[in-house]
Amino acid sequence: PTRIFSGIQPSGGLTLGNYLGALKRFVEKQEEGIETIYCMVDMHAITVWQDPEKLRQQTREGAAAFIAAGIDPARSILFNQSQVTAHVELGWIFNCIARMGWMSRMTQFKDKAGKNSENVSLGLFAYPSLMAADILAYKATHVPVGEDQKQHLELTRDIAIKFNNDYGVTFFPVVEPVIEGAATRVMSLRDGTKKMSKSDPSDQSRINLTDDADTIAKKIRKAKTDPEPLPDTLDGLKDRPEARNLVNIYAALAGHSVEQVIRDYAGAQFGTFKPALADLAVAKLEPITLEMNRLMQDPAEIDRILGQGAARADAIARPIVDQVYDIIGMIRSR
Ligand code: TYM
Repeated sequence: PTRIFSGIQPSGGLTLGNYLGALKRFVEKQEEGIETIYCMVDMHAITVWQDPEKLRQQTREGAAAFIAAGIDPARSILFNQSQVTAHVELGWIFNCIARMGWMSRMTQFKDKAGKNSENVSLGLFAYPSLMAADILAYKATHVPVGEDQKQHLELTRDIAIKFNNDYGVTFFPVVEPVIEGAATRVMSLRDGTKKMSKSDPSDQSRINLTDDADTIAKKIRKAKTDPEPLPDTLDGLKDRPEARNLVNIYAALAGHSVEQVIRDYAGAQFGTFKPALADLAVAKLEPITLEMNRLMQDPAEIDRILGQGAARADAIARPIVDQVYDIIGMIRSR
């Protein structure tokens, strides 16, 4: 049976990249009637220091974004990671399965650690093994993510395979990454070769889910582009990363294929295309932002939803992790 799991870090505000690459697609999976489990991964967030009050706030804001985007906590399981201890328990076991060599090849670690890897947390290094635990604690089969998580999911597969081999069992499934749609890698509005990210120092580089309509429109109008009009074939977007990015964003927001957008705007100048994109972005994002703000008025209600989700998540993960303890030879006698 198909079971979807995915997670988002509450380590800052959410961006248009998170929305198009993840949230929007999470909602589509829910609407397909598949079992869906979604998690605010607060344990991952603390791999770099987080202000405690901000972390709490951002976890609630993330949950509000899920709900505002269309996640129904009655149909999907929505919770924060630290409330379900199976994640860290299995994460430790996977630390003993994963190899140092595998982890040191993770490009996200290398990017985040930079040259000063002596001074980053041990947790940042082990990050992908906790991510594998998130997924496999539920024996999830499919994981919708943006392009940047692909390598982590390959590692998840390697961990599942090695665990099964080391213990001579067919226990963990080998998960399928689900990286699909027009916006699997939304790029910075200032530099079409860089990923749109909550950690970019320039706020102009990204659209935040908390931006108001004016700010969204202004950021799109000021987005970096080249001077050429839009081409009339997909091929014409080659070597035009900024143009390609705006067309991808349009397609993903409109729910059209990239080819369709190219057909509709063949030969258009950015002076025409950008205002159309800005209108579309505001029309799609403003209702979500307003609903997020409304939900954030009642933090206790959000906490209640996360707690209920955690209880349902625990009911699935607990028996699976208990079986793992049994497989690896731990005495469980109380
Ligand atoms: P995080 O919090 O960085 O991002 C959450 C999701 O948003 C996607 N994403 C993007 N997609 C397209 N364009 C972008 N510019 C963009 N930026 C972010 C990410 O690919 C991701 O799907 N390690 C994960 C969180 C995680 C997780 C998991 C995911 C922890 N455990 C288990 C799946 C399954 C992360 O840091 O995502």
